[in-house]
This record gives sequence, C-alpha cells and structure tokens, in this order.
Amino acid sequence: MKQYVIVGGSKGIGAAITKSLANEGHRILVISRTVGEIGGLVGVDHIPADVTSIDFNKLSLPVSIDGLAYCPGSINLKPFHRFKQVDFDHDWQINVQSAVKCIQACLPGLKESKGCVVLFSTVAAQTGMPFHSSIAMAKGAIEGLTRSLAAEYAPTLRFNCIAPSLTNTQLASRLLSSPEKEEASAKRHPLQSVGQPEDIAAMAKFLLSDSSKWITGQVIGIDGGMGSLKTI
Ligand SMILES: NC(=O)c1ccc[n+]([C@@H]2O[C@H](COP(=O)([O-])OP(=O)(O)OC[C@H]3O[C@@H](n4cnc5c(N)ncnc54)[C@H](OP(=O)(O)O)[C@@H]3O)[C@@H](O)[C@H]2O)c1
Repeated sequence: MKQYVIVGGSKGIGAAITKSLANEGHRILVISRTVGEIGGLVGVDHIPADVTSIDFNKLSLPVSIDGLAYCPGSINLKPFHRFKQVDFDHDWQINVQSAVKCIQACLPGLKESKGCVVLFSTVAAQTGMPFHSSIAMAKGAIEGLTRSLAAEYAPTLRFNCIAPSLTNTQLASRLLSSPEKEEASAKRHPLQSVGQPEDIAAMAKFLLSDSSKWITGQVIGIDGGMGSLKTI
C-alpha cells in the first residue's frame, strides 16, 4: 500500500486517478476546494483548500509521499489581443505557481519515500493552436519544470508530465456542451474521439507506480494522436 497526494483529485482526471488508486487499496490525500466525486471512498482523505491561496506548508501533509499528482488547471481560450493581464496571471498562478509551491511543500515527504511526481501540460504546448497563447505559455513552463526537476532530483525522485488533448471533464464542458461540438472535436483527432478522464488517469497511475521506475523527465502525449499525427 502506497501513500499518494492528488491535488485536484476530486473531479475530472484527478478523480479518475484517485478512484483507480483507491480501488487498489492505496491511501490518498486529496486537496481541492470541494469533495466532488470522491466522497466516501475508502482510504481517501480530503483537505478542502483553494490552491491559489493556501499555504501548502501549513497543511498536514503525509510524512512519507510515494507519489504526487498536481491536477488543477485552466482552459481559457481567446484571441491574443483580447487576453488581459488578469487572464495571464490566473493561468500562470493555477497551472505553474501553485504547482511549484505544492511540490516544494511535498519535497520532504517525497524524499522520505523516494517518490515521484506527475504534472499536467496540454497538447497545445508543443503543437501551435490558435487562441491557446496563455495556456500554452503556462503549460510550456510546466514541461520545462518537469525536465529541470527530473535532472535536479535524479536518481532519488522522478518527475514526469502528461500532455492531454481535449478530455471530457468539467474543465472542458464549454467545448463539449452539445453533440455537434463533441462530434466536431472528435473529428479533429486522428483516433476520432475526445479523451475520457480514465484514458489520462491510466497513464498517470502508471507514472505513479513502480512499473515506471526507469522513466523520468518525460512529457507524454495522451491525445488521440493529435500532437504527432496528420491524417488528412
Ligand atoms: N480536460 C481537458 O480537456 C484538458 C486538456 C488538456 C490539459 N488538461 C489538463 O489536465 C489537468 C486536469 O484537468 P481536468 O480536465 O481534470 O480538470 P477539472 O475537471 O477542472 O478538475 C480539476 C481538479 O482540480 C481541482 N481544482 C480546480 N481549481 C482548484 C483550486 N483553485 N484549488 C483547489 N483545487 C482546484 C478541482 O476540484 P474543485 O473544483 O473541487 O476545487 C478538480 O478536482 C489540468 O491541469 C488541465 O489543464 C485538461
């Protein structure tokens, strides 16, 4: 049985990770604003907190952390000229700054158990897409952070990153709010569908397990082929 910390583990991809780890009998500490989909799960503790305002150092984090996933993120798409400073600041804060503070606070626990960290980017960090400037900047930073920390903490800790394409969660709900929108989004992917939280969680769980013990510093696209294939 391992001890995990899943930040943003109450909904969407994070909830799918939490449920899958709980199913296998692990202990999971979830940090998010609401309890979401994980109420009553055996082995799961929840700390209600907003990652953009809490001091992670004041939380009672596990003494030993086998794996940390930081899941909170944003999808704020608009033409570049319409982005205001407040948009850039929010995307930077929730995707990057709070992730950094969280990792720093978890370092003692991670070092205690030679743990690993999974971060989240987006397909739009390495594939240019219109209207994605703010999120591409923030997630590009996460990809750099992943490789940098993987180098700095090798061989003790592992850091990897998952870059999903459009996945059916609350975060993406405005982009998938009708069957027409969902079909159009599906058709843009070589595999002709949008992602499900479980598709992404399966890779996260692998990266959080000993099965990936020789993998670090990687950004892995789970994206229906979107980031690397051109089929039309
Ligand atoms: N879904 C996609 O299409 C997609 C595509 C590319 C990349 N990604 C990335 O994948 C990651 C997971 O996305 P998702 O779709 O699963 O997101 P989601 O459905 O919005 O879930 C996010 C999780 O983070 C928590 N959270 C959000 N804001 C928070 C805050 N300020 N403080 C504390 N907890 C907060 C949410 O719980 P509470 O609301 O209860 O706080 C929830 O548990 C993100 O980094 C996202 O950028 C997603």
